Amino acid sequence: MSVAEIIFVRGATEGINLVANSLCRSSYFNEGDEIIISHMEHHSNIVPWQLLCNRKKLHLKVVPVNNKGEFIFEEYEKLISEKTKLVSIVHISNALGTINPVKKIVDKAHEYNIPVLLDGAQAVPHTKVDVQKLDCDFYVFSGHKVFGPTGIGVLYGKTEFLDKMEPFQGGGDMISEVTFEKTTYDDLPQKFEAGTPNIVGGIALGAAIDYLTSFDMKEISEHEEKLLKYGTEKLLEIEGLKIIGTSEHKASVISFVIDGIHPYDIGTIIDTDGIAIRTGHHCTMPLIKRFNLSATARASFSMYNKIEEIDHLYNALLKVKKMFS
Ligand SMILES: Cc1ncc(COP(=O)(O)O)c(C=O)c1O
Repeated sequence: MSVAEIIFVRGATEGINLVANSLCRSSYFNEGDEIIISHMEHHSNIVPWQLLCNRKKLHLKVVPVNNKGEFIFEEYEKLISEKTKLVSIVHISNALGTINPVKKIVDKAHEYNIPVLLDGAQAVPHTKVDVQKLDCDFYVFSGHKVFGPTGIGVLYGKTEFLDKMEPFQGGGDMISEVTFEKTTYDDLPQKFEAGTPNIVGGIALGAAIDYLTSFDMKEISEHEEKLLKYGTEKLLEIEGLKIIGTSEHKASVISFVIDGIHPYDIGTIIDTDGIAIRTGHHCTMPLIKRFNLSATARASFSMYNKIEEIDHLYNALLKVKKMFS
């Protein structure tokens, strides 16, 4: 891998939009072509492809998830056809925590010479990611998910694709020579980094990655697995609480609902106990609807969380239950 393959963007969303728009400009897609995503995508891995489909008359195919919130691999295999031009899948689901079998997904697509984009926004802080081992063609993540600032992120792309892709944006810093008749572009990665870069963001992201990588990612994963196991057992002790997303392979995210209590109420009440969880559709409306819900409450654990904090969450949830009983 070379630095030419690392493009600084505003975040995962911009990385995906860059790939969608650049491939589109490079006449990579033809009318009737298909793009495969899954039912558990973040909106940022749905809407850019929809925009593209509308513009180029392409079709979006969606791999379903089962009741545990797992990617159904057999259905994915069935959706691949000679019309498939790209597969774009989330590495770890932000809404359910499901860890997708991304290596298998990539290998299957490559059997048909189809490139694969992986949305790693949720994977990078939880697990060691090796894009070369995964052999994915594109990988995106956001700085703020790895304790860095907002407004900076990375798109990794294989040179063989980036070389052929037209720039997404034009301007200063991305050119080799400009005349009124014709512009030639700078080498990678500058070709895709038009305008004055987010210098502060880049430096801060570097510091955040140095911080994260000063820990053993395996130890972080193991610690988070313990939190997930304990948290799952503890929360299931609460009567009427149901966990949404029970994949065999799961990151430290617990999405849940409690009978008769709106997730917004849960979030607001436990906030007063100093516990910050996320409530709502988590930018995955189709996925939440798949479970006949409009919202869930989601507790996510990170490297700095402690077992005692899960007890604190448990006690706060009991208080919520009492208020609504
Ligand atoms: C799985 C996933 N993909 C994409 C995104 C979008 O990231 P950003 O808004 O930083 O571009 C997020 C953010 O929550 C996410 O969790």
